[in-house]
Order: sequence, then structure tokens, then C-alpha cells
Amino acid sequence: MLILGIETSCDETAAAVVENGTKIISNIIASSQSLHAKYGGIIPDKAAREQLKAIIPTIKEAFIPSEVEGSRLDPSEIDAIGVTIGPGLIGSLLVGVETAKSLSLAWDKPLIPVNHLIGHIYANFILSEVEGSRSPKFPALVLIVSGGHSELVLMKNHGEFQYLGGTRDDAAGECFDKCARLLGLGYPGGPAIEKAAVAGKVKLPRPMINNDNLDFSFSGLKTALARRSLGEGGPALAYELQEAVTDVLVAKTLKAAKDFKVGSILLAGGVAANKRLREKMSEAVEKLDAKVDLFIPPFSLCTDNAACIASAAYFNNQPVTPTEVNAGPDFGIDE
Ligand code: KG4
Ligand code: ZN
Repeated sequence: MLILGIETSCDETAAAVVENGTKIISNIIASSQSLHAKYGGIIPDKAAREQLKAIIPTIKEAFIPSEVEGSRLDPSEIDAIGVTIGPGLIGSLLVGVETAKSLSLAWDKPLIPVNHLIGHIYANFILSEVEGSRSPKFPALVLIVSGGHSELVLMKNHGEFQYLGGTRDDAAGECFDKCARLLGLGYPGGPAIEKAAVAGKVKLPRPMINNDNLDFSFSGLKTALARRSLGEGGPALAYELQEAVTDVLVAKTLKAAKDFKVGSILLAGGVAANKRLREKMSEAVEKLDAKVDLFIPPFSLCTDNAACIASAAYFNNQPVTPTEVNAGPDFGIDE
């Protein structure tokens, strides 16, 4: 089964074709990130305008399979369309949703709405050469860490998600983005912090690390960093911020994995591209008494893309009449 995925929730315009939810046929991403870099964050109105310019060329390119030179898929070969309906920026979401609805009606193909957060999770179901044919065992614990979300979710099966805890204020990626701006490191902040980090002596708190719950709080780190930034050196602060955020993420993920006796742990979202997080999580999971498989998506599937959306649509194949599909900027994981 071939699914065309469309993703426009933030500043990426993405389209992809995925076979049976696991094999990428094409995966195209246009980003307006460089446009936002000079403001140190996303300007929603500008992001939506860029989505409008990029959506049709991006979808057209997704019909060219990456492995077969000179060939082009025909829309008649697609079995369904999967589209991100939220959460995200409303102006950006509308571009993808309305385009997908039009294509679904024009081509007479089923339309499958996809929650963006669930889309991120499916980065772990796309089979890569690195992972071979390994796939997650249920129940699985998922840590979704992105620019807008930091959540721990119990995945009991495809389509069965239970929210366990999450941030009470800023998301992990948002914390990186805001701190990078304070340190003058540019946008997006996560990769900039990672690149600038050099170990030093400065210490930052590990918020809520010992609390008996599965919640996070990252906004205080920004304040702590702002107080220290005078004279303490950007690289050392960048390093310590990365250590603080990743320490808390690893500790709470392991607590949840033990509490719910899961068979697999899955990382998802843009912050899952962070090398320190990947390293620390791997070391911690290896030390667990119980056998738990850790899944970490390839870098390119951590940040926003449409291959994950097509995969999520395949495994949660519940088409909706196009005229009844609406964008929802505030959707949670269980909506
Ligand atoms: O998943 P994503 O592309 O978009 C959202 O759904 O939000 O995540 C973007 C976020 C940004 O906050 C960015 O700073 C962060 O992911 N990010 C990283 C890294 N790469 C992207 N954070 C830490 N380390 C990275 N290497
Ligand atoms: Zn995302």
C-alpha cells in the first residue's frame, strides 16, 4: 500500500511516499528555517506564506521515487493520503490540510488525518538499514521531545496511546531555542547549543529530577541561565544546559519504563536528534535489569518530515470524509 504523506505543522513543508508504513519511496522537505533564523524564532505568518509557496512543488517532487532514476509515480498509484491536522501553527496547518482535502477529492483517494505527535512516534517504525527489520514491542514507552512538546506516552498498540506526563511549561526544544537566543547562538537552538557546547565548571539545576511523577519543567533553566550568562562563558553554559535537560529526560524516561514494565523505549521529535541524549539514553537502557529495546530514529526522521506522517496513516488507517477534516492547533496525543 502506497501512502502520500503531507506535513505542514510548523516551518517545514514536507511530502513523502511510503510503502506499507515502513519503506520510504521519497521524502521531500522544504524549510523556511533560514528565514526565521534572523529573528531567533518562528514568525507564524511568514511560515504560513512560505508553506503556500512550497506545498505544490514539494508534493510534485514526492512523486519522483528516490531509488528509481527517471521514473515518476502517477497519482493513480497512490492508495491514500495522510495529512497532519495538528497540533501546530494554524496558518501552516491549514495549507497542508486544505491541499490534502482537495487532492483527496480530485483523485478520489481516502484521506487519513494524522496527529503530529503520533506522526513523530512512527519514525521508529520506518525500517532503516541501521535497524534492519527490528520493530518495537508493545507496550512501548515513547519520549516525544520537540519544539512544542515534551511528553511521555505509553503506546499499548497502534492507535492506543496513554499520556503519562509532560512539561508543565516550556518544551525541551523550546528551552534550547530560548537559551540559544540568550547566548546569541541563533535558531534553531538545539543544534546550535550542541555545536557550541564545551565542558566547563558552571552548574545548572536538574528541574524535577527527583519528583515522584512523570512531569517536566524547563522554563526555570532559562531564568537560571540568564542570571549566570554574564561572564561565565557561552560554551560552558551551552554544555551544562544540554547536560541538565538530557539528565532529566533520561531519568524520567527510565522511571516510566520501570513503572510500566515496557518492552521498548522509543525516542521521537526534533530533540531526539541530540547526540548527548542519544548517548546517555543508550547507556542508561543498557544498565536496566529488564531487557528493554531502545529505538532511536535516524537523524533525518527526528525533525519534522512527512514520511513519519505517511507511516502513522498506514498503521492507523481511519479515513475521514474530506469535507469533515479540520486542522486543530491544540490537539493532544489522545484526540
Ligand atoms: O520535531 P521538530 O522538528 O518540530 C516540532 O514539532 O517542534 O523539533 C524542533 C525542535 C527545535 O526546538 C530544535 O531546537 C530541536 O527540535 N532540535 C534539537 C536538535 N535538533 C533539533 N535539540 C537538541 N539537539 C539537536 N541536535
Ligand atoms: Zn514536530
